Amino acid sequence: MVHTVRPVEVFLQKPVETLLNPGIGFLSSFNNHEVLIINKQRAMEKSTRAKKNTGKSTGNTTRSTSNAKKAGMKETGMKEKSSNQSMLEKFFVDELKDIYWAEKHLTKALTKLQKAATSEDLGNAFADHQAQTEEHVSRLEQVFEMLGETARAKKCEAMEGLVNEAQTILEDTPKGSATRDVGLIMAAQKVEHYEIATYGGLTQLAKTIGRDDIAEILMQTLEEEKETDELLSSIAENNSNINASEEEEEGEEEEEEEE
Ligand SMILES: [Fe+2]
Ligand SMILES: [Fe+2]
Repeated sequence: MVHTVRPVEVFLQKPVETLLNPGIGFLSSFNNHEVLIINKQRAMEKSTRAKKNTGKSTGNTTRSTSNAKKAGMKETGMKEKSSNQSMLEKFFVDELKDIYWAEKHLTKALTKLQKAATSEDLGNAFADHQAQTEEHVSRLEQVFEMLGETARAKKCEAMEGLVNEAQTILEDTPKGSATRDVGLIMAAQKVEHYEIATYGGLTQLAKTIGRDDIAEILMQTLEEEKETDELLSSIAENNSNINASEEEEEGEEEEEEEE
C-alpha cells in the first residue's frame, strides 16, 4: 500500500513558522480540521508570546517596583533627613539646657574659687570670669528666647564632677599655698576646656541648622572661655607653678627637719 502524505501530516512534519508564513500560499489547501490545528498552533504561539510579554511585564513590574522602592527610599530619605534636622534641633536645645545648668552652677563655684585662691592675680582672674559667666548665662537665655524656647536647665553631670574635683583640691591643699593655686588653675582649666568643647560644638551646630545669628552669640562666649584658659595658663607658667615648686622644696626640708 502506497502511503499518501496528507497535508495534515505535512503540517506536523514542518516547522510551525513555515506553516504560519502566509507568503507560501500553503494554508489555502487545508481542510477545516487542519485549519483548526493551525489555529490551535497560533493560539499556542500567541500564548507563548503572551507569557513572554507577561515575563517582560513582570520584569517591568519588578523594575517599576524597584523604582518605586528607590523613589520610596528617596522619599523616606527626605523624611529621615527632615526628621534628623528636627532631631538635631532638639539635640541642640538639649545641649543648651546642659550648658545653661553648667554656667549657672559655675557662677557659684567661681565665687568660692575666688575666695580660695592664694595669689591676687588668680583671685582677680576668677572674679573677672565670674562676671563673664553671669553674662554667659544671660546670653544663653537670649538664645533660648531666639529659638522660642523656655530657658530650662538640665543637670550637667560633667560640670558637677569638675566642680567637685575643684572642691577636693581645696580640701587636699593648704590654705594660702601656691600649690593650692596650681591645683585650682588645673581644675578651672578643665572646666574651661569643657566649655570650649561645648561652645565650639554648639556654634557649629547653630550654623548647621541655619542660625548664624545664634552662632555669633555663642562665639562671643567661646572666645571668652578661650581667653580665660590662656590667662590661667599664663598665671600658672609665670607665677603659681614657680612659687609652688619652691613650696615643695620647703615642704621637703620641713619633712627632713622633722626626721
Ligand atoms: Fe562660661
Ligand atoms: Fe568659663
